[in-house]
Amino acid sequence: MQFSAKSLIMAATLSAMLALPASAGVIDERQEAMKAVGGAIKKLAAIAKGQMQFDANIVKSSAMTIKSSLETASSRFPEGSGEESGIKTRANPEIWLDEEGFAKAMKKAIAAAENMASVTKGEDFMPALGQLGGACKNCHKTFRAPEK
Ligand code: HEC
Repeated sequence: MQFSAKSLIMAATLSAMLALPASAGVIDERQEAMKAVGGAIKKLAAIAKGQMQFDANIVKSSAMTIKSSLETASSRFPEGSGEESGIKTRANPEIWLDEEGFAKAMKKAIAAAENMASVTKGEDFMPALGQLGGACKNCHKTFRAPEK
């Protein structure tokens, strides 16, 4: 069977069109989820800075938002949804080269969020925030590409 250049280009365009919305969807969803994580940790940071009073309910709800949003994000890194998708993303190729390491970093952060959700006393807050913030950095330093 013979393919003309035109039909090859059409096939490539078609497959790109089919691939694009799928990737765009998951990339969008994980970025939205990460934004929710960022929004929730801002509240915790405000408590840390003394801009907001320690309130166990706010701490718990923020931590639960972080946990559930990280869980959402973690399921939205399918292979092929990195830079090669042609969509703006800071997902580092290392995610797919070291899937185990990525999953481990995610698990660590989810556990840190669970720990934060269980904080009821002001004195336990800062250590829990240190652990949680450290878990974000731990993943970002390896698996998130620098801003362009
Ligand atoms: C296991 C890895 C991992 C963990 C843990 C993690 N992140 Fe991320 N985060 C990423 C990756 C990868 C991106 C880039 C996603 C993209 O651009 O497609 C990202 C993006 C973000 C963004 C930018 C979202 C946007 O598109 O505007 C924020 C904000 C963020 N993370 C906050 C956090 C905070 C706060 C924590 C800790 C509570 C955290 N992340 C934990 C991997 C992680």
